[in-house]
Amino acid sequence: MASTSSDLDHVDVRNVDVIERELWPDGPPHELFRRLRSECPVHWSSGISEYPNEAGFWSVTRAQDVHTVSRDWKTYSSERGGFTAVTDGFPLELQQAMFIGMDPPKHDRLKMLFQAGFTPKRIAAHEPAIRKIVTGVLDRLAGRDECELVNQVAQPVVSRVIGSFMGIPPEDDAVWAALMNSALGAGDPDLSPDGIEGVVANEIPEIFERCRKMIAERRERPTDDLTSVLVQAEIDGQRLEEHEIVMGFMLLVAAGNDSTKATYCSGMRALMEHPDQRRLLLEDPSLIPSAVEESLRMFPAFAHFRRTATSDAELGGQKIREGDKIVMWYVSSNRDESRYDDPDRFDVTHQAEHQAFGAGGRHFCLGTALARLELRVMFEETLVRYPDMEIAGSPVMVESAFINQLKSLPVRLRPVD
Ligand code: HEM
Repeated sequence: MASTSSDLDHVDVRNVDVIERELWPDGPPHELFRRLRSECPVHWSSGISEYPNEAGFWSVTRAQDVHTVSRDWKTYSSERGGFTAVTDGFPLELQQAMFIGMDPPKHDRLKMLFQAGFTPKRIAAHEPAIRKIVTGVLDRLAGRDECELVNQVAQPVVSRVIGSFMGIPPEDDAVWAALMNSALGAGDPDLSPDGIEGVVANEIPEIFERCRKMIAERRERPTDDLTSVLVQAEIDGQRLEEHEIVMGFMLLVAAGNDSTKATYCSGMRALMEHPDQRRLLLEDPSLIPSAVEESLRMFPAFAHFRRTATSDAELGGQKIREGDKIVMWYVSSNRDESRYDDPDRFDVTHQAEHQAFGAGGRHFCLGTALARLELRVMFEETLVRYPDMEIAGSPVMVESAFINQLKSLPVRLRPVD
């Protein structure tokens, strides 16, 4: 088997197992995915060597096939085997208590409780509050020459935004961020030194403990935050069970914490690496929404989500069997050359559609409008203050085939006088 992407030249990619750590030394193996799209777009991996009990899986690498899987929830279930490639990475029973890990009808009923609050119109009303959070965090950099963009800018912004939706007090933002980073980055030695076992033994009980307190407070005195929506929710006349409330809370906090941070940091890195593209934004800030979309396309916050086949099917010429695991690789479909002329080029004028938020269907990202607003405001405010920001050390990616994000991005600020 190939050990790195650059070794792939003489390898039959049909025999490569896609989720091997050595293939992801610095983020997604784009060269491997390019070859898969061209040579075997629906590809079988025999297993994941770090998880010897895991079954093999299909990789879906082209946009059209990702679209097909996303739309067909009857054939491709989010519930049956969980929503990530590693079935037991996060206990399956807990995945199935989040609506991202449910199938209709329960999924639809639960998601509906939140949808009204996440429409572009309702989210637009949060712009002043979000801008205040962003400028407040940037104010803390005054007088400094350098900073680390992931943890000192992106993290506190996204934590406070989702924290304010959930009713988390600001002083708890950092602890929630650390809990979410460990849980989602369970394969990364820095984010989660004790791995999945550590998350199950430590972080999950702490999440439950902290949530129990918030639930009890809201049972006594309902609030107007999203945690109260979960506490008060009734599906078919029944309240949610405690673990469903906790996991609903965790889904929103995790999605809100991680994803926007990922795209902001990778987008900022790309702008610093491509000063010509940054110049376009500085000269014409109305291009920033398009730069947001291009960042989402090239650096989707989640490398994949997963489905499980509920019946035999055919996909991209391959025979899928009931029970098979299907992994949709957005990091690949967003660079599908049948959709994009020059897929690896970062172009802020591109205005291309992408699948970073999923490819339609029932599980399409709830937070799309919020993420777009946060990203626009974060780019706007950062570029106004620091139009000449430079990379000041090696950017480091999280070691993960699920979350596609930097864990460190040191920068020299070079503020305008
Ligand atoms: C750059 C930002 C973001 C990206 C790239 C992103 C990406 C995604 C993707 C790909 C899915 C689909 C999962 C699947 O098909 O199984 C999803 C679902 C979801 N996202 Fe996001 N997301 C982002 C921001 C957010 C934010 C800020 C929230 C905050 C509330 C959020 C909440 C959710 C929820 C609740 C789901 C589950 C939807 C369902 O199962 O019906 N996301 N997201």
